[in-house]
Amino acid sequence: MPSDFIGIDFGTSNCAVAALVNDQPTLIVVDENSDNPYKIRSAIYLAHDESGADSHDAKANEQTLNEMLAAGEILFGEQGFNAFLQTPHEGRYVNSPKNFLGAKIPKRLLDSFETLVVRFLSYLKKYAEKQLDININKAVIARPVNYHSTMGELGNKQAEALMLRAANKVGFVDVEFIHEPLAAAYHFEQKIQKPTQAMVVDLGGGTSDVTFCLLSQENAEKLDRDEDIHSTQGIRQGGIVCDKLLASGIVSPLFGRGGRTDNGKAIPNMLFSGVYDIDNIPLMSDFYSPTRSKSIAEYIYQCQDPLPLMRLQRVQKQRLTHQLMHAIELSKINLSDKQQTQLSLSFIESTLHLDIEREHVAETMDNWLDKMFVMIDDTIKQAQKTPEIIYLTGGMGLSPLVQQALTQRFPDVDISVADAFSSVVFGALLKAKRLFSGTSQGVAI
Ligand SMILES: Nc1ncnc2c1ncn2[C@@H]1O[C@H](COP(=O)(O)OP(=O)(O)OP(=O)(O)O)[C@@H](O)[C@H]1O
Ligand SMILES: [Mg+2]
Repeated sequence: MPSDFIGIDFGTSNCAVAALVNDQPTLIVVDENSDNPYKIRSAIYLAHDESGADSHDAKANEQTLNEMLAAGEILFGEQGFNAFLQTPHEGRYVNSPKNFLGAKIPKRLLDSFETLVVRFLSYLKKYAEKQLDININKAVIARPVNYHSTMGELGNKQAEALMLRAANKVGFVDVEFIHEPLAAAYHFEQKIQKPTQAMVVDLGGGTSDVTFCLLSQENAEKLDRDEDIHSTQGIRQGGIVCDKLLASGIVSPLFGRGGRTDNGKAIPNMLFSGVYDIDNIPLMSDFYSPTRSKSIAEYIYQCQDPLPLMRLQRVQKQRLTHQLMHAIELSKINLSDKQQTQLSLSFIESTLHLDIEREHVAETMDNWLDKMFVMIDDTIKQAQKTPEIIYLTGGMGLSPLVQQALTQRFPDVDISVADAFSSVVFGALLKAKRLFSGTSQGVAI
């Protein structure tokens, strides 16, 4: 009988679930519509927003979201994303809910995010139960070292408490958490031949995390590993920040950035604020506000070349920021395999496109890489050890630019790039096994 516990990676960009089947760690199919059905895009689409998704009244927006979450039809993952692309005005799209769990936002809005997490966890639980044919009531959920927040540790506490409440509500009776890079470390430990000082670098969509620990077969089954964990750190920046840097650095001239008015004055950067900020609700709302709409219209009237600003206006009027950032993200991903790619923006203007080279990503990524290395340096300093191996995981770890930067910084250390989208969930499952396997009383459905 399969285990009645699962591991969950509730990621900013993708979620995954793993269970033990015949004692083998096994990924659960969570999205049949995805190229990789073992991960699901962290996105939902609420259909039928009859009160109008364009409302700029924050209270009305919260109210609507609450009502829709309670009663409305919800589409998850790829299906949700595609429905949103087809009818962006008819429903409500929420991308990467994890980004907002630690945010300083009104309680009502936070409650809405909790309901949203309940619906998402419930979806994942049902998929697992259907495939395993067993009731599941225990879970280990991976969490970032630092959730997105302006409130520091308070934000982490808020997010974890929300995740716990949500998990309890969907019927997980026993719930534990594990730091994402530590989960990945437990997964890699399975392959370790001799005790090894390992640094695990997990670069995701929303956060970049690292843990430095001693991995060994001898201690692998122990529940208390505090002595082996030398240091764990995380920054609130991942792949989404890289996409935003690419957008503002390379793509933004297409929308008028750097342009001038008729009398030679520079178009202010403020006009573009929020257009790429899909992970920041206040900035996105500002961009879609009537005030901004008015400012864009005024600059169109008085600038030397109105066409780029008219594109910005179209993005604003038609609420195209998510499509725009999705297209830019795809270009970044393509550039991991190719030296150049074409960013097509035909949803803004039929022939609008931009040739982008890997070099461009390299130039704009520097800012994030610098921060990542500060985090890594801190980790090594705190550990007071040199890593014998570096495991690189998470989607951004697939970027050759990231791999090269790490190799340059650690020329003498073996760097292993592995299991980008599964190391964390398998590690969460390992912890679940250590915690719950003695207590399992599998109940077939
Ligand atoms: N081949 C690739 N090259 C470069 N970047 C990639 C590639 N594939 C995915 N990514 C990026 O990796 C990120 C998603 O990675 P991942 O699925 O590990 O994140 P996550 O676990 O959902 O997020 P987090 O751990 O921060 O909550 C996205 O920013 C995506 O654009
Ligand atoms: Mg992750």
